[in-house]
Amino acid sequence: KKALGIGLAGFGTVGSGVWETLEKNSELIQARTGVQVSINRIAVRDLTKAREGAAAELFTTDWQEVVNDDSVQMVVELIGGTTTAFDIVSSALKLGKPVVTGNKALLAERGAELFELSRQHNAPILFEAAIAGAIPIVKAIKDSFAGNRIESMAGIINGTSNYILERMTDAGLDYKVALAEAQELGYAEADPTLDVNGWDAAHKAILLTSLAHGFVIDPADVYVDGIEQVRGTDIAFAKNLGYVVKLLCVMHTRPDGAVELRTQASFISQKHILSSVNGVFNAVAVTGDAAGESLFYGRGAGKGPTASSVVGDIIELAQAMGQGSQPAGFLPYKPDGGLLPIEE
Ligand code: NDP
Ligand code: HSE
Repeated sequence: KKALGIGLAGFGTVGSGVWETLEKNSELIQARTGVQVSINRIAVRDLTKAREGAAAELFTTDWQEVVNDDSVQMVVELIGGTTTAFDIVSSALKLGKPVVTGNKALLAERGAELFELSRQHNAPILFEAAIAGAIPIVKAIKDSFAGNRIESMAGIINGTSNYILERMTDAGLDYKVALAEAQELGYAEADPTLDVNGWDAAHKAILLTSLAHGFVIDPADVYVDGIEQVRGTDIAFAKNLGYVVKLLCVMHTRPDGAVELRTQASFISQKHILSSVNGVFNAVAVTGDAAGESLFYGRGAGKGPTASSVVGDIIELAQAMGQGSQPAGFLPYKPDGGLLPIEE
């Protein structure tokens, strides 16, 4: 019987969700892959925290033990941030171990180095969970739409800010109260500043654009603004004029191939389909020159929806392993893309 041992870094909202999903659906996963998938080591920060499900002896505070363990053939990084997470992912890749991650900040900020390591060591990085939670948008852009020139994408891809805006609109909640609710529900980043200042959404938009156009994007070249300045009066004005306020990411490709990318709080007509994307839901509208317009919709954050995408990537790796092969993952294939300069 073939076996795939996972080293899991992080057992918070998403990491514990991955554990639970693998446990709950283990028979299904084995039937689909022909491989016995198990989590063999887990790195956390605090060993004294109560953990449901996983045996205490699996846990360590030393991530190197997890990555280097002989029973670990792939590493799932779910600690977040761009420092220790970088060390974990780069160490795994250097050992030739494939990586699954939900860390959009890491890949958007330091993806150039990591994708290069992935290429050098023939170890794929899979990151479906990094963009729009349960929505299979990475596979859609990388694989299903690979025959298209992607002309534009418009997305609501931060669940926390979308939840806050809805609670401000419908329940008249104060911004801070709505943010506390989103944190309680497990939608927000450990540092929620990134959710409300637009950068979490921008990181995802950067990755989507890299997937669509094949080049790495410097975050410094992207226009980013968030919802921190949105007040109840803005929402009321929008409503009176027939609009709603949403944090929108827009990617547009010019006929000469140059790309414009921006993230900002925007008025959307109440008649537009994106205006009804509420709460933790995300949506990405993609226009390809062959496919025309498609809309992807689903839960963009939270334990189950994010774990669903992480486990989907684990299964992709397990299936390939069962057949003695390896998934390609994403690798940038163009040196330079021609991102348009920021216009304020
Ligand atoms: P949490 O804060 O809930 O969990 C983080 C986990 O990582 C905790 O178990 C923590 O340990 C552990 N950890 C943190 N630092 C270290 C370290 N230096 N060494 C070892 N372990 C460490 O985060 P989430 O689960 O919400 O998010 C994880 C990742 O998934 C992030 O990259 C996030 O952006 C991404 N993501 C999150 C989504 C969500 O809806 N929450 C959705 C999509 C992606 P301890 O438990 O001991 O504190
Ligand atoms: N903090 C993120 C959000 C998690 O609210 O969308 C999902 O990436």
